[in-house]
Amino acid sequence: MCRPEYFTVSYAINPFMHPDEPTDTALAVRQWDALRDVYRGLGHEVEFLAPVPGLVDMVFAANGGFTVDGRAYLASFAYPERRPEADSFRAWFAAHGFETHEPASVNEGEGDFAFAGGVILAGHGFRSTADSHTELARVFGREVLSLRLVDERFYHLDVALTVLDSAATGGPARIAYLPSAFDEAGQALLAQRFPDSIIVSEQEAAILALNSVSDGRNVVVAQDAHDYIAALAGAGYTPVPVDLSELLKSGGGVKCVSQELRR
Ligand code: ARG
Repeated sequence: MCRPEYFTVSYAINPFMHPDEPTDTALAVRQWDALRDVYRGLGHEVEFLAPVPGLVDMVFAANGGFTVDGRAYLASFAYPERRPEADSFRAWFAAHGFETHEPASVNEGEGDFAFAGGVILAGHGFRSTADSHTELARVFGREVLSLRLVDERFYHLDVALTVLDSAATGGPARIAYLPSAFDEAGQALLAQRFPDSIIVSEQEAAILALNSVSDGRNVVVAQDAHDYIAALAGAGYTPVPVDLSELLKSGGGVKCVSQELRR
């Protein structure tokens, strides 16, 4: 995680961002501190990347790379505003024992890539390119399910889909998603591969309900996503509601600020 000490909205690269509207950096920090404490309270270890002045979106640590098996496929950001972040992430992964892989294709790490029971789910269409999916398959030697995103509000995979259970125990992975965020082929593929999914409404997806983080048991989720929270509880998960309203102004939520490390 990267503390939002320099967070604000000073440019618009997704439909949530309005640079003319005020942001409250101190509130963003308090909300982020509370999320960090939630993770620790659930027994998870949290590691930190130092924020850099001027890099206002660096709090969205999920975008800095994607890790599986101790390898890190590094990010290459789509917009020039975020490109300088990549050096910090590269240095962090290298200093923390990851085998780093330089990207030849534009990709925004865990923003568009998710690990689900041995397979990698990968989004393209707005940020990451389809070429990055080919690289992913090569770097990790795993099956990659390539999914095209079609709604600009759901510009990253991690705002359209959550992996609830990555099936570490060998059972099938379970996901939650918004079907209309994907093209027809993507919808068909998800329905076929993940028949036991939780489907989330467009209204709740629009407050970044699906930008949630699951450890297979607890799901840390936007507190206003009432139907999704009820569905999670009904499916046997423990929802852990949090408030990241300030970061929502930049189009980010729980998952965006959390890079999961798979050593
Ligand atoms: N303002 C950031 C951007 O548009 C938000 C990134 C959210 N991150 C995510 N993983 N969806 O790049």
